Amino acid sequence: MTFRRVGVVMGGSSGERNVSLASGKAVVDGLSEKGFDVVPIDLEDRKDWASALKGARVDAVFLALHGRLGEDGCVQGLCEVLGIPYTGSGVLASALAMDKLKAKELFHQHNVPTPAYYTLSVYDDLSDIEQIHGSFGFPVIVKPRSEGSSLGVRCAESLPELVYAVTEAHKLDDHVLVERRIFGREVNVGVLHGRVLGAIEIAPKKGIYDYEAKYTPGMSEYFMPARLPATRYLGVLKVAEKAVKALGCTGACRVDLIVTEHANEVVLEVNTIPGMTKTSLLPKIAAAAGYSFADLCESIMLSARLHARNQTQTPPESQRLPATGTHTETLAKAV
Ligand SMILES: Nc1ncnc2c1ncn2[C@@H]1O[C@H](COP(=O)(O)OP(=O)(O)O)[C@@H](O)[C@H]1O
Ligand SMILES: [Mg+2]
Repeated sequence: MTFRRVGVVMGGSSGERNVSLASGKAVVDGLSEKGFDVVPIDLEDRKDWASALKGARVDAVFLALHGRLGEDGCVQGLCEVLGIPYTGSGVLASALAMDKLKAKELFHQHNVPTPAYYTLSVYDDLSDIEQIHGSFGFPVIVKPRSEGSSLGVRCAESLPELVYAVTEAHKLDDHVLVERRIFGREVNVGVLHGRVLGAIEIAPKKGIYDYEAKYTPGMSEYFMPARLPATRYLGVLKVAEKAVKALGCTGACRVDLIVTEHANEVVLEVNTIPGMTKTSLLPKIAAAAGYSFADLCESIMLSARLHARNQTQTPPESQRLPATGTHTETLAKAV
């Protein structure tokens, strides 16, 4: 499918709005460089998103939104309803990947290794934490069920730290995951249209790859390709591919994993709309696989489509409506 006039959808109302605006701006430049007629579409909080998308009069949209309402299947559903082809995963895969609990349930079903965990809702009485946590042990990582960019992610090494981390995470989500902390090398794998592109290693200067380590220049080091022996590197790519398949994701994805000291790969999550600034990790991985930033934007853009219906499909003869008269008239004649 070729598109001439395309929209780059960015902003949104999630906690990752600013990250999305940065991704969107870079994608606008990348697509313009490739000769697309590009319309930036900033979906602002409490504005009419349907009108903004429809009013842009574009052939397709590049979704550069991150987080809630943008990456979780909601905007994808809106595009389906409006009939605007969009990039990335469909409604269900987007929702499953954004929901860390549902994603982990599917990882278990598909034999994709992921850290041990339990969940705590706002209705759980934290004065019972000692009993709830039981023999789960420390350290743990506490994270909101449906956030991104490490928002609300904290490490806890004791019960009081756990209560603090859970209380803070509950400000972002009614449900949080308490996960066993995995020690090892943090690796991200880029996947484009089902094909693994490579793996980058992230080495935060201290602690975990939290919001500060992610977005403060100099707080993390990156190694492309990840510093792993060849067989391990291949193992990481295979597990990442399996994780993407387990959730049914399409388009461009980034899989976050940790490779343990005993050389096991553990999947943390699949991001269905990875960061797309020129210094983001997916573009870095893609560059090593031979894609310039503009090439990557173009490849993602050209794969935009509707997932829930195929508008070019002609219904079978028996289901076609007559060229003249209304459907009600036809039904009326039939009875
Ligand atoms: N179980 C874990 N063990 C060790 N570190 C973790 C674990 N879970 C998350 N982290 C750290 O927190 C970061 C963010 O967690 P992640 O699950 O990827 O959520 P987000 O959607 O916010 O990126 C990871 O990149 C990693 O550094
Ligand atoms: Mg992550």
